[in-house]
Amino acid sequence: MNSASCNEERIAARLNVPADRLQPLGAVPALLLAWYDGHARVLPWRSEPTAYRVWVSEIMLQQTRVEAVLPYFERFLAALPTVQALAGVEEARLLKLWEGLGYYSRARNLKRAAQVVVERFGGELPGAPERLLELPGIGPYTAGAIASIAYGVPAPAVDGNVLRVFARLAASGADVGEPALRRAMEALVLRLIPVDRPGDFNQALMDLGATICLPHGTPRCQDCPLASLCHGRALGVAQELPVKAAKTPRRVEALTVYLIVNHNRLLLRQRDSKGLLAGLMEFPNAPGWQSEEEAAAQLAHWNFVPLNGPKALGPAKHVFTHVEWHMRGYQFTVGDAPAPEGWLWADRQRLEELAVPSAFAAFLSQARTFLSD
Ligand code: ADE
Repeated sequence: MNSASCNEERIAARLNVPADRLQPLGAVPALLLAWYDGHARVLPWRSEPTAYRVWVSEIMLQQTRVEAVLPYFERFLAALPTVQALAGVEEARLLKLWEGLGYYSRARNLKRAAQVVVERFGGELPGAPERLLELPGIGPYTAGAIASIAYGVPAPAVDGNVLRVFARLAASGADVGEPALRRAMEALVLRLIPVDRPGDFNQALMDLGATICLPHGTPRCQDCPLASLCHGRALGVAQELPVKAAKTPRRVEALTVYLIVNHNRLLLRQRDSKGLLAGLMEFPNAPGWQSEEEAAAQLAHWNFVPLNGPKALGPAKHVFTHVEWHMRGYQFTVGDAPAPEGWLWADRQRLEELAVPSAFAAFLSQARTFLSD
C-alpha cells in the first residue's frame, strides 16, 4: 500500500465510512471551481485580497455572518488602513469600531497580533500557516484561509461549513465536534486542494456551505454542483448530517439593569479588564431579577435619591457562548449626586462615543428615546 492510499484509509476510518467512499471525491475540485466561476459571491475582500484585508475579514467572519460583517469591514479598513495603524490604535477607538460585532476579544487579539507583525515580521503578515498560527486570534481555519486566499498557499481552511459539506458528501455520521474528525477533514481537503487555485477552492467550499449546502435540514441539492458525487444525497440522509454531539447547555443568569438618569445624563462605567465583555461599558446592574422595592433599596445603597421612577424596562435577553443573560431593568431619575468612584455621567454625545456592547442594546435604545442631544 502506498502512503497516499494509507492516508485515505485513515481519513475514511475517522469519518467512519468505507475507504472507497472517498475516491469519487477526486472530482470535487473541477466541479466546484466551475460552479464558483459562475456563482462566487461578490465580497469586498475578494476584489482586493491583500493579506491585511483578508486577515481582518476572516477575523470579523469568525462567529459572524457575511451580511453582518459587510458594513463593519469597509469602515474598519478606512479607519485603520494598515497593519501599522492597527498596531497603534487606541483601545477605545478599536472597540468603538467593533461595537455591535460582539466577541470583542477578536478585536483585542487583532491589535496584539498587529503589534507582533510589526515587531517580528516587519509589518508583513507571514504567508506560512505555521507562522500565522503563532499570532493571537489565529487558529488553523483562519491560518489556512489567509495563507490560501492572500498568498496562494495550498492550505486547508476547515470551518463548520466545510465539515458539513464533506460530512454530507461522504455520508459520514461521525461527530463533527471531535477535533480528530476536523483533522481528518483537513487531511481530506489537503488531498483535494488544487495548487493553482487554493484560495478559490476554499472560498468555493465556504460559498457552497453558505448558499447551497445549508445547515438545519434544508440543503438545496437541486442546485448543487456536487450533487452527482454526494453520498448523503444518494442515501437520502443529507439533511440529517452532520452529526454533532449535544453540548452542555448554557448557564442562564438573571440580571437587573438600571438606567439612572440625572440632567439628561446616564450612569455608566467600564467593565473589568478580565472576563465577559472585558473593558467595555456597562450600565449599573445587579444579579437576579429585583422587585421594585429591591430596586429602590439598591438605589439607596448607591446613595441616589430617586425623583422619578422606577419605570420597568425589558425583558431582554443576550446569548453568549457559554452563558445567557435574561435581563429586566428599571429607569430612575435621580437628584444631583457625584458619580460613584469608577462611574461616569455620560450625556448623549459621550454615550455615542463609548463602546456599549450589544448585550445592553435594548437598554441603550431605550436611553436614546429620552436623552436629548
Ligand atoms: N466566511 C469566512 N471566510 C469567508 C470568505 N473568505 N468568504 C466567504 N465567507 C467566508
